[in-house]
Amino acid sequence: MPTALAYQAAAHEVMDRHLWDFVEGGAGDERAVLANVHAFDAVRLRPRVLTGCGEPSTKTRILGRHWRTPIAVAPMAYHTAFDDGGEVSTASGADRAGCPLVVSTFAGRRFADIAAATTIAPWLQLYCFKDRSVTRHVIETAEAAGFEVLVLTVDTPRLGRRLRDERNGFRLPDGVLPANLPPGDFSSPSEHSRTAFDPGLDWTVLDWLRSITALPVLVKGVLAAEDAELAIKAGAAGVIVSNHGGRQLDRAPATLDVLAEIAAAVDGRCPVLLDGGVRRGSDVLAAAALGADAVLIGRPVLHALAAEGSEGVARLLVAVAEELADTMVLTGTASLSDARPELVIGRRQPT
Ligand code: FNR
Repeated sequence: MPTALAYQAAAHEVMDRHLWDFVEGGAGDERAVLANVHAFDAVRLRPRVLTGCGEPSTKTRILGRHWRTPIAVAPMAYHTAFDDGGEVSTASGADRAGCPLVVSTFAGRRFADIAAATTIAPWLQLYCFKDRSVTRHVIETAEAAGFEVLVLTVDTPRLGRRLRDERNGFRLPDGVLPANLPPGDFSSPSEHSRTAFDPGLDWTVLDWLRSITALPVLVKGVLAAEDAELAIKAGAAGVIVSNHGGRQLDRAPATLDVLAEIAAAVDGRCPVLLDGGVRRGSDVLAAAALGADAVLIGRPVLHALAAEGSEGVARLLVAVAEELADTMVLTGTASLSDARPELVIGRRQPT
C-alpha cells in the first residue's frame, strides 16, 4: 500500500532541491509544520472488539454533496511545477479516489481544463487581492467553469517568512505561471504576495463576496473559536481549521490541538474541515472524532504527483481512504457520525 511517507521519499529523489524546500518548508523555525504532524503522532485510538461493525461507511455529506470519503485535496499553488499536466493530473487522480480538489488561485492550469478532468465539481481557493477587479475575475472564471464552492484563505495578510526560500533565493521554475490571473511577475512568490495581497482585509470581505457571487464561502485559516464564531456571523458557509501547513505563523498551534474547541463553538451550525499533518487514514478518523466533518491533504499529494503523476495522486488518496475504513473497523466505528472524542486517547492538550 503506497503511503504518504513513501511518496515523500520518492519525491525527494526526483524533485529539484529548491522546489523541494519550497514545498516542505514553513515559516520561521518550522515549529508549526512539525507541530501538525506531531499532534497526530501523539494520538492513540481506542480499539473496540466484537462490535459487529462489519463493513463501515466512510460516506459523508458536505454542503449538500455526497462524498465517498471525507477527504479532499488542499489548495496548493502551481502543480505544473511537479507534473506537466499540473492540476489537470491532480484533478483526475483525485476523481478516481472520489475526492474533491480545492484549486488554488495560483493554479498552473486553466480552471475550465481542471473542471473537465473530474466528475466532482472543484472548489476555488481564493486570495483576495488589493485589486478587487482581479479577485472578481478569478471568481467569475471559476464560476463559469462550474466550480461550486469558494474557500477564502484568511491567514495570509502577508506571506510567512519562509527561511528556506529566502536562503535559496527561490524562484519558480521557468514556464510555471498562474493560468487564471492577468500577466505579471510571479517568479518570486514572496515578492509577488507583498505587492498583491491586501494586508488590511477584515470580515466585511465576506459581505463583498456575497454581493458578487452566490457560491458558498468557506473561511480557511481559522485557529480560534472566536474567529469561527465571527466567520459564521459574517455569513461563512463553513470553516477550515488550518495553519497553512505551518507556512504562516511559526508559533501557530497544531490544527488538531484546537479542533475540538472550534468544533464545540461551531456546534453543528456549519461544516468544520481541517488540514495540516494529515498523512494516514487513522489521522482522518482522529480528526473526525474530534469534530472534523472532513479533512484536506496537502504536501503528500504534491509528493505523489511529482513521483507518479495522476496515478500517484489516485493511489495515495485511495490508500488513505482504505486505511480510514480499516481503522473504523478496528475501532468499531460503523459510520463517521459514530466517531466520538472518546475514541481518541493521549491527545496533548493545547499549550
Ligand atoms: C500551500 N497551501 C496553500 N493554501 C492556500 O490557501 N492557497 C495556496 O495557494 C497554497 N499554496 C500552497 C503551496 C504549497 C507548496 C504548500 C505545501 C501549501 C497550504 C495548503 O492549502 C494546506 O493548508 C497545507 O498544505 C496543509 O498541510 P499539509 O497537509 O501540507 O501538512
